Amino acid sequence: MVRLPRWNVGLQSKITLYLIAIVVSVLSIAITASRLVIERQARLLLRSEYITLVRQIGAGIGTLEELRNRSVLEQELAKLREIDPEIVLMEIFDLTSGVPQMTARSGAGVRELSALPNESEIGMIRRGDPVARLAEVNGQLFWEIQGPVRIGTEASGLVLAQVSMRRFEALVARDRLYAALVTMAVAAVILVFLVWYLRRKIGQPMASLVGEMARVEAGDLERQVSIESPDEIGALAAQFNRMLFRVREGTEAVRLLNESLQDRVEQATTEVNRRYEDLARVNRRLSEMQLRLAHSERLAAAGQMAAALAHKIGTPLHSTLGHLQRLKRDTSEEKREERLKIIESQLERMVQSIQEVLETVRKPAPPMGPVEVNALLRGLLDLTMPVISLRGIEVETGFEERLPMTLGDAGELQEAFLNLLTNAMDAMPNGGVLRLETRSIDGAIRVTVADTGVGIAEADLPKIFEPFFTTKERGKGTGLGLSICRNIVRGHGGEIEVESRRGAGTTWVLTLPGRDDETR
Ligand SMILES: Nc1ncnc2c1ncn2[C@@H]1O[C@H](COP(=O)(O)OP(=O)(O)OP(=O)(O)O)[C@@H](O)[C@H]1O
Ligand SMILES: [Mg+2]
Repeated sequence: MVRLPRWNVGLQSKITLYLIAIVVSVLSIAITASRLVIERQARLLLRSEYITLVRQIGAGIGTLEELRNRSVLEQELAKLREIDPEIVLMEIFDLTSGVPQMTARSGAGVRELSALPNESEIGMIRRGDPVARLAEVNGQLFWEIQGPVRIGTEASGLVLAQVSMRRFEALVARDRLYAALVTMAVAAVILVFLVWYLRRKIGQPMASLVGEMARVEAGDLERQVSIESPDEIGALAAQFNRMLFRVREGTEAVRLLNESLQDRVEQATTEVNRRYEDLARVNRRLSEMQLRLAHSERLAAAGQMAAALAHKIGTPLHSTLGHLQRLKRDTSEEKREERLKIIESQLERMVQSIQEVLETVRKPAPPMGPVEVNALLRGLLDLTMPVISLRGIEVETGFEERLPMTLGDAGELQEAFLNLLTNAMDAMPNGGVLRLETRSIDGAIRVTVADTGVGIAEADLPKIFEPFFTTKERGKGTGLGLSICRNIVRGHGGEIEVESRRGAGTTWVLTLPGRDDETR
C-alpha cells in the first residue's frame, strides 16, 4: 500500500488549499475594489449634499443687512448644527470689503483647518462656484465646503462649513468588517463544497484505486476497480483494469510454462539419476573386472607354466624314474655306468626344458619411456575407486606436484602398484584408510602406500616376496603378486620395502630413480 509521508499534504488538500487561496484573493480584490468605488461615491454624495446646504444658507441671505446681522445668523447656524452634529464649524464672511470679514460663527471647528478663505477660493466664490476640500487631520477626514452668498447679481458673502466624516468613516469601517465576514463565510462555504466535491470526485476514487492496487500487489490478481466516472480518473481505472487483465493473462501463461518446465525438469532429473545409477553400476563392474583380470592374468601365467613344465619334463622324468628303479637291480658296473649317463642326459634335458619354459613365459623387454608417477597413481585410483568406496575405504593422497619422472614401462609399473592397492583392499575388509603419497628425495621418487588393515604376522614377513606365498583362501590368491611387484621395481632400478604390524596396518615404501634431465 502506498502511503504518503506524514509531512506531505495530499493532492486533494493541495487542490482545496490552492482553490481557497484563489477564491479568497479574488473575493478580497473584488470586494475591496467595489468598496473603494462605493466609498468614493458616498464621499462625493456627502460633498454635494453639503454644497447644497451651503448654497441654501447663502440663498437664505437676501440683503447686506441680513449678511451682517450676527445674532440672527449665529442663531440660524446653531440650529443647523443641532440638527446635524457632524457640522463642526459654520462661518459666514462678508466679501464686500477687500479683506473677508467674518460676520457669524458657530462651533469650534478644527483649528488646523480654521484659516481664512484664500485668494483663489474667494475668486471661485466670486464667480459663483462652490469650493470643496477634503482634509485629513489627526487621522480623521473632514470636508470643508464654501459657497457664495448672492445679493443681487454679486457674490457679496461666503458660507463656510466644516463637516466631520467620523460617522461616515465608522459606517465604512463597519462595512469593511461585514465585507471581511462575508468573504470568510463565502470562502468557508466554498471550502466545504470543494472538500466534499474533491473527496467525491478525486479522494474516494483515488483511495479505492490505491486500495485495489495494494490488494493486487499482495497477490490477488482477480481484483477489478469499479470507477465509472467519465473523466481522467475513470480512464485511469479502466486502463488499470485492462493492465490487470494483461497481467492475469501473462501470469497464467508463466504458470503453465513453469508447470510444464517443472514437469520436464523432474522427468529429466529422474532420467539423469537413473542413468547415473546405471553408470555407477557399470563402473563398479568394470573396476571389479579389471582387478579380477589382473589376478587371473597371474593365474593363467602360473597355469601355463605348470602345464608346459608338466608336458616338457613329464617324459624325461618318467624315463629317469624307470632307469633309477632298474639301476638298483643292475649287477654289472658297466650297465650301471650306462644307466647313470642316460639319467644324467635326461636330467640335462629337464633343466633345458625348464629354461625353455621360463624363456617362453618371460615377457619381452618392456618399452621404456618417461613415466609420470603421480598421473599413473591418479589413473589407478580412478580405476579402483568404485570398489574402494564400495568397501568403505577412505582414500587420502599427498602427491608432491614437482615430482621427477622415472624411466620405465608404464604398464608394468601400473601392474606393480595395482597389486599393492589390491592387497591393501583385501587387508581392509571392514573399511579403513588408504594413504598414497609421493615425495621427491635427492632426485629419486619415493612412493608410500599405507593401509590400516590387518597387517602381516612377523613370522610371515620374510616370506611375502617369495613366489606362491599366500595367506589367502585357495583360488583367491596366487602368491605371485608381490614377487612380480618386486621384480618390476628392481627391473626399474628401484627397491621395495615393507613395514607392518599385525592388527595395525602395512606400509609399502617404493623408491624409483628419477630422470635426471626432467622434473614434473
Ligand atoms: N597390505 C597387506 N596387508 C596384509 N597382508 C598383506 C598385504 N600385502 C600382502 N600381504 C600378505 O602377503 C601375501 C602375499 O601377497 P601377494 O600379493 O604376493 O599374493 P596374494 O595377494 O596372496 O595373491 P595375488 O596377489 O595373486 O592375489 C598375502 O597373501 C598376504 O598375506
Ligand atoms: Mg596380491
